Amino acid sequence: MKEDKKIFVCRECGYTNPKWLGKCPDCGSWDSFDEERVAPVSKAKRGAVISENRAEKISELELPTYMRAGTGMKELDRVLGGGLVGGSVVLLSGEPGIGKSTLLLQICNELASSRRVLYVSGEESKGQLKLRAERLKIDAPTLYLLTETDTDAVLAECERLRPDVIIIDSVQTLSSERFTSVPGSITQVREGAMALIGYAKTTGAAVFLVGHVNKEGGISGPKILEHMVDAVLYFEGERTNSYRIIRAIKNRFGSTNEIGVFEMGDEGLVEIPNPSEVVMAERPKNTSGSCAGCVMQGTRPIISEIQALVSHTVYPTGKRTSDGFDYNRMCLLIAVLEKRMGLKFYENDVYLNVAGGIRLNEPSADLSIAMALISGITDRVIPDTLIAFGEIGLAGEVRAVSHIDYRVKEAARLGFTKIILPKKNATRELKVPKGVEVVPVGNIFEVLVHMAPRAEA
Ligand code: TYD
Ligand code: MG
Repeated sequence: MKEDKKIFVCRECGYTNPKWLGKCPDCGSWDSFDEERVAPVSKAKRGAVISENRAEKISELELPTYMRAGTGMKELDRVLGGGLVGGSVVLLSGEPGIGKSTLLLQICNELASSRRVLYVSGEESKGQLKLRAERLKIDAPTLYLLTETDTDAVLAECERLRPDVIIIDSVQTLSSERFTSVPGSITQVREGAMALIGYAKTTGAAVFLVGHVNKEGGISGPKILEHMVDAVLYFEGERTNSYRIIRAIKNRFGSTNEIGVFEMGDEGLVEIPNPSEVVMAERPKNTSGSCAGCVMQGTRPIISEIQALVSHTVYPTGKRTSDGFDYNRMCLLIAVLEKRMGLKFYENDVYLNVAGGIRLNEPSADLSIAMALISGITDRVIPDTLIAFGEIGLAGEVRAVSHIDYRVKEAARLGFTKIILPKKNATRELKVPKGVEVVPVGNIFEVLVHMAPRAEA
């Protein structure tokens, strides 16, 4: 019999090399190579595998019929692209303690009311899970719990139970004796995920894999898992507030722009179908440095409050931080305001924050950010019934944005009565709701008149 082959695998990126290396040529990590053994595949076997699998003409293939199951959480369904697809594998990743296990246990309530669901935990005991299920009021007749970390034992139980949905919490706990590397190593995680992906594709079961994120933000070691699965969802939020946002980084069955918003409470995660309302409810009154803006997250316009604190600096160069908006874009907008309006930001520290943990990743947020900055430095107040959207160019011009009707409609729904928008968008086709005043602007100068000195309290 042929001996097992020795290879060295980078635990950060999965790069393989026949010899040990001090530095990975692929990802640049130092001292990251582990030795692994792989059983050789004989030439005869390789030939045999290929001969069983024939290429087919696309014109002769039948369209597959996917099961789309509602998870009982509309916010999650939207991110998944309209529900859970049979035979698909979804990687749910996030920092420890963010609520991954809670979310997946909660969706079992709906999924296991009509389907067989197997929840495999490698991290918690059955008792702990039962306690949590009790707290979350999970009462699902066909929900099965298994505490197991051996990939082969998990698959054997899947064969016996034939579940429609399998939840693996977490993929990093899976390991198999077939591989010599330690549990949690890149080979173990990859092979465990591969086995479940194979199982999903052959049986049509939907699989959720929970993946922990390491401090750099990547899914611990196996970034490679992202290529193998059908959808990658990130669960994120601040420890200091209870809002949680789920977003799709990759989705073979839907758009990746959608987000789902939740709040963590005493009875688990609660959906927030109208995030704009929640964010705006906490808005302070009569303060400078605050402006409302609107970004599209997939098909949904989300209104958020931008806050800019501008205060005289004690440092040689002003300090700048940005939370929820691209730092470099903020610096660019500050430069535009300095150059075109003569505002002296260089004498000041600037702290920018988007309330509610929403990320503004669209140029349409520029105008509201610039207005918050102007309001912050001039100490003039923007009325809380005013909202602005538009992209800003380097000459200070305000450029048109997409989905204007959606944004205007959402702003009117939330009670905004004055909307500042790009001139190009103020066409005759624009539907302006009753009681709303639309102010078209062509240049950033023009917004100054809409701010007033702060009223003394
Ligand atoms: P968990 O789902 O265990 O996180 P993960 O699986 O991502 O590591 O969530 C744990 C946190 O959520 C924990 O700090 C307690 C909190 N939590 C609540 O606030 N309310 C609840 O009803 C539950 C179940 C958890
Ligand atoms: Mg967990």
